[in-house]
Amino acid sequence: MQTLDKYVINGGVALHGEVEISGAKNAAVAIIPAALLVEGVCRIENIPQISDADTLLSILAELGAKVSFVNQSTIEIDCTEARYQDAPYELMRKIRASYYLIGSMLGRFGSAKTTMPGGCNFGVRPIDQHIKGMTALGAEVNIKNGFVYADALDGRLHGTRIYLDKVSVGATMNIMIAAVLASGRTIIENAAREPHIVDLANFLNSMGADVRGAGTDTIKVNGVEKLHGGSYTIIPDQIEAGTYMVAAAATGGEVLIKNVIPKHLECISAKLRETGTIVQEYEDSVLVKGASTLRRANLKTMPYPGFPTDMQPQMGVLMCLANGTSVINEGIYDNRFKYVNELRKMGAEIQVDGRIAVVEGGRRLTGALVQACDLRAGAAMVIAGMCAAGRTEIEDINYIERGYENLVGKLQALGADIQVIREPEPTEYNEKIVAII
Ligand code: EPU
Repeated sequence: MQTLDKYVINGGVALHGEVEISGAKNAAVAIIPAALLVEGVCRIENIPQISDADTLLSILAELGAKVSFVNQSTIEIDCTEARYQDAPYELMRKIRASYYLIGSMLGRFGSAKTTMPGGCNFGVRPIDQHIKGMTALGAEVNIKNGFVYADALDGRLHGTRIYLDKVSVGATMNIMIAAVLASGRTIIENAAREPHIVDLANFLNSMGADVRGAGTDTIKVNGVEKLHGGSYTIIPDQIEAGTYMVAAAATGGEVLIKNVIPKHLECISAKLRETGTIVQEYEDSVLVKGASTLRRANLKTMPYPGFPTDMQPQMGVLMCLANGTSVINEGIYDNRFKYVNELRKMGAEIQVDGRIAVVEGGRRLTGALVQACDLRAGAAMVIAGMCAAGRTEIEDINYIERGYENLVGKLQALGADIQVIREPEPTEYNEKIVAII
């Protein structure tokens, strides 16, 4: 749902200080649905406080799970009493990660009904590889009236060999989830290798699954009869860390980014160093010092360990500030340059042709009223606002809050002049006022 909430930023402040990175969104949004496979209590630590995680927890609760918060970032999920039923449509359609319920419901109940996934719109985002995987495991999958219906033909899935035609994070994780309780061995070939894939495998194994090879392009899942409860800590968020790294570089500041796995950030660190930014790696932190003059750099987004598409818009802002012309090649999505129109309102000069953007650097950005077109585009606008002269207002911030925990508080602690303006919850009375305006 769109809200009237917005961020207001007065730019020109270099970020200084320390920031603590939260748990990985794209691991959490798979691990929470995967908890449905477990008959017992899953204690999950380092859960990010983001709306996508809240939505998935609400869906599990509707399916009969007991969900309780031990503290702000630790939850206990007990799906022992969960039963097959229609998951709530309004919640599922809000997020892309609801597709993991296909795998977890099929694995646990032998049947699944979900909406076609929502989420950020970067052009066509098919789920054909998910369906290919579920079908190969012995499910009949049909899409009707915006819903995905999947039924294991003889009540349980059966292990098999699946070659993905496209390297897909979501399909790899969904098939892993579905295969854990299947009979026999499943082999996923041409699998994605992102850190959150390894994290999901580690979570499943800590609950009694037998998943091997995650982090390589061949994953083997030996089906087990049952999963048991256990305790697991989610890895730090690679993209949240990268976003603060770029923010430090773009504002010419100096920020120690704590609770990270530097290995996961190597592609981002290397690209920042090309621009003249200093990046120093420690055991579980990285220090980023902005350069007095930023140099141009080209980049192409690719599956891990390549440069992540989820960092492309943030780097686009940095390229606007760097001296020289940079070329960005978007290797994953057809339409991930919608933020360019918003940046142009701030004085950026960028030409887009399909999946290529040519950025004329050396620009002084100026504050403007802009939209967060999606989660990472929104993060890019926040960085642009902090670098721009004057005041920037960012609308549609609900996208940003889907994936960044306490972005405003963390940036304020680094010295940024950023405020969130929240509109009151609509009552019958102020709904009418909004309508009249
Ligand atoms: N694709 C297909 N068929 C499929 C699945 C994917 O053609 O069945 C295509 C996609 O259209 C895309 C490419 O394959 O062109 C890769 O898509 P992938 O499946 O890897 O992406 P995803 O699982 O839908 C996850 C993250 C995204 C992130 C991508 C790539 C979640 C919930 N989402 O999406 O995260 O961009 O992997 O790393 O994990 C974000 O965090 O901002 C975000 C969008």
